Amino acid sequence: MRVYGPASLSNLGPGFDTLGLCLKGIGDIIEARFTSGPEITITSSAPIPLVASDNTAGRAAHLVMTKAADKRGLHLSIKKGIPLGSGIGGSAASASAGAWAANLLLGKPFSKEELAHAVLEAERLASGGTLHGDNALPSLFGGLVLTSPAKPLDYRCIRLTTPLHLAVVMPKRSILTADARTILPSAVPRIEAVHNASDLAFMLHAFMTGDWEAVSPYMMRDRVVEPARASLVPCYQAVREAAMDAGAYGAALTGSGPAMFAIARDSFSVSKVCDAMVRAAGEGARGMATEADIHGVRQCS
Ligand code: HSE
Repeated sequence: MRVYGPASLSNLGPGFDTLGLCLKGIGDIIEARFTSGPEITITSSAPIPLVASDNTAGRAAHLVMTKAADKRGLHLSIKKGIPLGSGIGGSAASASAGAWAANLLLGKPFSKEELAHAVLEAERLASGGTLHGDNALPSLFGGLVLTSPAKPLDYRCIRLTTPLHLAVVMPKRSILTADARTILPSAVPRIEAVHNASDLAFMLHAFMTGDWEAVSPYMMRDRVVEPARASLVPCYQAVREAAMDAGAYGAALTGSGPAMFAIARDSFSVSKVCDAMVRAAGEGARGMATEADIHGVRQCS
């Protein structure tokens, strides 16, 4: 069984731990098979934990096997297409692929909705113990997903009505989500909280109407998380400016960074925006001009 778990953008400015978007064209692939032993064994193309309980794919697959009360062992071969610590949901992509691969091997007893808990629990491994679904749920379901940080199983999948042209740049450095969470303020003044809550509400309305130009100003003025994290990404300001100079509607960090993304006007300008962001991100940066993935995790050939 071969399964593709897509990457995702998260936070999208004011939506910290709340809003995520599945990305087309980049993801992890897991090949899974039953084994004669009782355990889950893992091999990978990248230097990630190979003990199943410490690996998001292994943990997700284990939770699915347990949910099905099936004691058979599995082998997962993980091909990481998403650079480690890049900020586009690599651990979540592996978690969704691990869960879906186990589910398919079992004959698909569970719906995606029934796997949300396993994927969220697995993703906890990557975030220093907190449970947030803004990468895991978009990777599972595709599209734009709104989730509650307090209760991640309260989520809403939001239909995107018009094509969304995205430029994504991955600077050549890596940031661990758990580290990028420790630098965040533990409390924020009411004025900043109110500003962000209002911006998130307006931004969501703009997403729902497919008005990408209206999304962008809200996406760019987070006052709580992105200002703290910008210091971890030396090219942050240069990439934002390059995106805007190249005609993007807006640009922001994704997740804990260092990856950044921009919303472009159309399919013609998105490559120009992407090239400008890659140049501004410095040596070794990679970029892609892409769109939203509306399908989420799936079997692949
Ligand atoms: N919302 C999360 C964060 C995404 O920004 O820390 C990264 O997993």
